Amino acid sequence: MPSLDRSKLMQLLLQEEHLFHKNHPKSFELYQRARKSLHGGVPMLWMIRWAGSFPVFAKEAKGVHFTDVDGNSYIDFCLGDTGAMTGHSPDATVRAINEQIQKGITLMLPYEDVIWVGEELQRRFGLPFWQFALTATDANRFVLRIARMIAERPKVLVFNYCYHGSVDETFITLDEEGTPMSRTNNMGPQIDPLYTTKVIEFNDVAALETALSARDVAAVLAEPVMTNIGIIHPEPGYHQALRELTRKYGTYLIIDETHTICTGPGGYAAVHGLKPDFLTIGKPLAGGVPAAVYGFTEEAAEAFNEKLDVDDADVGGIGGTLAGNALSIAAMKATLENVLTDEFYKTAIVLQESFTAGVESVIQEYQLPWIVKRLGNRSEYWFRPRPPRNGGEAFAAIDHELDRYMHLFTLNRGVLMTPFHNMALISPDTTQEDVDYHTKIFRDAVQSLFG
Ligand SMILES: Cc1ncc(COP(=O)(O)O)c(C=O)c1O
Repeated sequence: MPSLDRSKLMQLLLQEEHLFHKNHPKSFELYQRARKSLHGGVPMLWMIRWAGSFPVFAKEAKGVHFTDVDGNSYIDFCLGDTGAMTGHSPDATVRAINEQIQKGITLMLPYEDVIWVGEELQRRFGLPFWQFALTATDANRFVLRIARMIAERPKVLVFNYCYHGSVDETFITLDEEGTPMSRTNNMGPQIDPLYTTKVIEFNDVAALETALSARDVAAVLAEPVMTNIGIIHPEPGYHQALRELTRKYGTYLIIDETHTICTGPGGYAAVHGLKPDFLTIGKPLAGGVPAAVYGFTEEAAEAFNEKLDVDDADVGGIGGTLAGNALSIAAMKATLENVLTDEFYKTAIVLQESFTAGVESVIQEYQLPWIVKRLGNRSEYWFRPRPPRNGGEAFAAIDHELDRYMHLFTLNRGVLMTPFHNMALISPDTTQEDVDYHTKIFRDAVQSLFG
C-alpha cells in the first residue's frame, strides 16, 4: 500500500495555490473589495473555508455547469450541497417562478397551490400532516419544540458528529473517552447542550437503549444514513431497533431527509419502509429557492392540538413570516411535479454508479487505503481503508491537508466538489462525459501524490 509523503503533499498544495491565484484574478479582486463590506469577504463565514485562499465568485449556472467571473467553466458535483441537486435553475421551476413573481411573492395568506404540495408530500413521504419553513434548520428546530411539548420531556438525542443545520441542541459530540461535550467551536451557545441533549454513536443499539430507558428523551433526531461526516450506512437491523426502542420508551422519532432525499423521491424512509413520527426536509425541494417542510403522524398532530393554544401560535417559538410564501410554494410545486421525479432518480443513480465505479477503479489501480461510498445519487470518497461505523470513527479519519489538495486540484481543472468533505452529487443533467472527466482528474491527482 503506498504511503503519503507529507512534504510532497505540501509542495503540491503550494503549486495548486499558485495556479489557483493565476487563474482567478477577478475573483481575487472582488474578494478584496468584498472584505471592505462583508465580514470575512463572504456572505456567510463558512464560505472562506473553500479550498482556495479566497472564494471563487460565480457568474452563471445552468444544469450542472457554471462559469466564474474569470471566465473559467466548471462541472458542478457540489450542487449547492443538495440545494441544487435538481441541477441549477431547472426549466420547470424557473417558469413557475417567473409566473408567480408577477402575481405576488408573499402575502401571509395561502394560495391554492399549497394544497397540491401538501397532498404530494403525503403521497411521497407517507405522513398525513405538513407545515412549512424556509430552511431545514428551522424545520428541525420546530419539530424538536413540538416533540418536547407533546412528550413532556426535556431532552433530545442525536448521533455523534451529526449535522442538522444550526440547531442549538445538536452541537454536542463525544470526546475520545466517549464523554459528551459541547462541540468544539460551538459559538456562544444559549445553553450548554449537555443540558438539552444526549449524544451516542450511530449503529450502537446498546447505547441507544441505555439513553432512552431513562424516559426523559422527547425525540431522537436522526439522518437515516449519516451524510455530513461521510456516508455512514446503518448496519442491518439498526433502523428496526431504533424504531422499536423509541416506541418502547415513548420517544418520538424524527427522520431528517434533507440529504438522504438523494435516495429516491420519498427519501430513504420511503425506499426502506421506515416509519418516523416526524420527517423534516429542506434544500432541493423548491429547486434552490428557500423552502423546507416538516410532516407528522395523526397521533402527533392530535397530541399537539390538545396542547396548542392557537391564539399564541405566532409567538410560541415556531414561526417565520415568509414561511409558505407564494414564491417558494410555486417553486416547490413545479420542482416536485416536474423535476424530482422517478425518472430523475433513475437517470441520476445510474450515472452516480458510474462515478463511484470510476473512483473505485483508481483506488484499486493505486492500491490506496481509501474507500468510496454511494447513497442514491450521492457518493463520497474517504481516506480510510474501511467504512466507518459511526461519526467518531469517521471524524478520526479526517485529513484536512489531503482534503484541501484534492479539492484544489479538481477545482483548478474545472470540477467543483462539495466542500468540507469529498462528496459528489449527480443530477440527470450530468453527462457520462462529465463523470469520465472527473475520473480522469481524480486519477491525475492520485498520480501526482503516489505516482
Ligand atoms: C441533514 C441536514 N439537515 C438539515 C440541514 C440544514 O439545512 P439548512 O442549512 O438549509 O437549514 C443540513 C445542512 O447541511 C443537513 O445536512
